[in-house]
Amino acid sequence: EKNGYDHFMLKEIFEQPKALEKTMTGRLNKEAKQVEFEELNWTHEQIKNWNKISIVACGTAYHAGLIGKHVIEELTRIPVEVEVASEFRYRNPIIDEKTLVIVVSQSGETADTLAALRQSQHLGAHVLAITNVVGSSIAREADEVILTMAGPEIAVASTKAYTTQVLSFYLLGIYLSEAKGTLNDEFKEQLVEAITAIPEKIEEILEHTKGIQWYGESIKDADSVFFLGRGADHAVSLEGSLKLKEISYIHSEAYAAGELKHGTLALIEEGTPVVALMTQEAVSEKMLGNIKEVKARGAQVLGIAVEGDMKIWDYVDETCFIPAAFSILTPLLTVIPLQLIAYYTSLALGNDVDKPRNLAKSVTVE
Ligand code: M6R
Repeated sequence: EKNGYDHFMLKEIFEQPKALEKTMTGRLNKEAKQVEFEELNWTHEQIKNWNKISIVACGTAYHAGLIGKHVIEELTRIPVEVEVASEFRYRNPIIDEKTLVIVVSQSGETADTLAALRQSQHLGAHVLAITNVVGSSIAREADEVILTMAGPEIAVASTKAYTTQVLSFYLLGIYLSEAKGTLNDEFKEQLVEAITAIPEKIEEILEHTKGIQWYGESIKDADSVFFLGRGADHAVSLEGSLKLKEISYIHSEAYAAGELKHGTLALIEEGTPVVALMTQEAVSEKMLGNIKEVKARGAQVLGIAVEGDMKIWDYVDETCFIPAAFSILTPLLTVIPLQLIAYYTSLALGNDVDKPRNLAKSVTVE
């Protein structure tokens, strides 16, 4: 069942290029260079009527939603809020017929997410589910469903479900932009082409994992690990930090790099491991400044940057380069080394990688 891999998690990490291809199939039209969703029966009028999108989910699916916010706001200019389902359901959310609620859930059975779906419908919102399981409670109750084609995910730590959820947000963003008229054709075509190329780029990353393995092993005795980034890099680093906590049991945190001076910097001392993501072109100089700040306090920095961006080189201890891509798309690439760091750290510690302590794959009780 593990296809020669030692763990389901590793197998599932390596399945990501295929899972993404499958999720694109029938939706991303490579010839026409556009996105089609047969499963969505929305009119342009309906889409234009939504003045807000609310994304609600738990854990890794919530982190996919954070990328979704960046993507949808950028591509459609529709305001997007993202909230964890356990918070959303117990307050009085401002949701009505003019809101599109998107619930994200690999299993389609998460209790809090299902409750948020029901509450949203009760308040008059239209609910779209992004889920990996046909016939799940969430798939059945939502008004519309985008099915991710990740295939069964066995490891408790979610990997391929996350990347297919993130991909769904790119496709959805492009799809919604048609009704909103927010993208020019040239950019849209370039984006579609760039998305098509993502699985190959992930393959490239997966061909060279030695350095990442070494890094994962090197942090196994750390008390704390910090992930720093800005914009989409910050959103993806929250996922990297969750992966590490979940299976290595090492405390870790992801901080928006600009927040360093507002408190976190006090935690950096000689030898503190810091994973610094620097793939967002618009803020890369700012990010480099943050890397210098932690380096000056003795941090051991692994820099994750885009191939060819050599300016990071002099300021970090290790570097992991990802293939070049539009800044908006890099989360699909940077998350791969982050997943692998968590995997190799957990492995080096002798933990049960696929079944971490205290956790269950599907959280059907709150
Ligand atoms: O099935 P769901 O996507 O609704 O599950 C949500 C979370 O429980 C899940 O993503 C959890 O955070 C993972 N174990 C993280 O790897």
